[in-house]
Amino acid sequence: MTYDRRPDNMERITTPELANAFIDEQVEAIKEQVGDKKVLLALSGGVDSSVVAALLIKAIGDQLTCVHVNHGLLRKGEPEQVIEVFQNQMNANLVYVDATDRFLDKLAGVDDPEQKRMIIGGEFIEVFAEEARKLEGVEFLAQGTIWPDILESEDGIKAHHNAGGLPEDLNFELVEPVKILFKDEVRMVGDALGLPANMVYRQPFPGPGLGVRCPGAITRDRLEAVRESDAILREEFEKNGLAGKVWQYFTVVPDFRSTGVKDGKRAFEWLVIIRAVNTQDAMTATVEDVPFDVMQHIVDRITHEVEGVNRVLYDFTPKPTGTIEYE
Ligand code: XMP
Repeated sequence: MTYDRRPDNMERITTPELANAFIDEQVEAIKEQVGDKKVLLALSGGVDSSVVAALLIKAIGDQLTCVHVNHGLLRKGEPEQVIEVFQNQMNANLVYVDATDRFLDKLAGVDDPEQKRMIIGGEFIEVFAEEARKLEGVEFLAQGTIWPDILESEDGIKAHHNAGGLPEDLNFELVEPVKILFKDEVRMVGDALGLPANMVYRQPFPGPGLGVRCPGAITRDRLEAVRESDAILREEFEKNGLAGKVWQYFTVVPDFRSTGVKDGKRAFEWLVIIRAVNTQDAMTATVEDVPFDVMQHIVDRITHEVEGVNRVLYDFTPKPTGTIEYE
């Protein structure tokens, strides 16, 4: 059975049994819609596209081709995990495109936040369209649209970030198997499909990725400092039981340096800002009270392990007045 809208009386998927029933239903619906035709999916490694990939692999196997575009703004280990889970473990047809240089070259010298977002979004579509044109006989495009995306685009809160954007010659029919689900239900389904917990329960991560955490014009050295410090923060939050508790946490490296001292010498280097917030809906947010000893240990690791960083700050600002991200 396929639905255009979430039925008013639909039971919330809160158990593995309900998730499995949904999976069985959707596998049949996908087979019926697609037949023996080919399907393309942009697989970011985020929860929604990963669950859609796993559902389609179950339903139609190698009729699906997943394209994973690495825009160079992903977190440490993300492209590797996508390849490991989908190509190695699930045997998916996966096209991995390392477009890092393309994105970073286009972004060089661009310091306006909205222009940065436009470049990242536009370039993503171009890279994906190029890959789509290389494949023959693809008639369907799968997307991880979820129910709140549809409600928010109807309310005019945000443009539907999935559908649309592709050039006209790429005229695909959409396959959107999780479009009537809320996020918690998508996670339930992902769990039931056997996806790794750190993929299914991962914190929100913006489409423009680390690009918005490297305020101003992105440089490769500062971007690397963001990626490495973020990896340390995530590792320490996991070790200290904060990963499942705090809604979103990350690091930012602003575009200025300060004087410090390292190995008895003056060190004029970047600083890292840590942000860790809790919220229900991302419209307002409060700051997590991270234990001081955990913070001290994180500061010690970042200042000793991340190249070019001599200082760490904690952002105590709730939303409002700060937003969660810096750009
Ligand atoms: P702000 O910074 O507006 O963020 O308080 C609220 C939530 O939205 C995420 N965010 C984005 N997600 N593209 C996305 O897909 C974006 O451009 C973007 N900007 C912010 C942010 O991470 C937070 O969870």
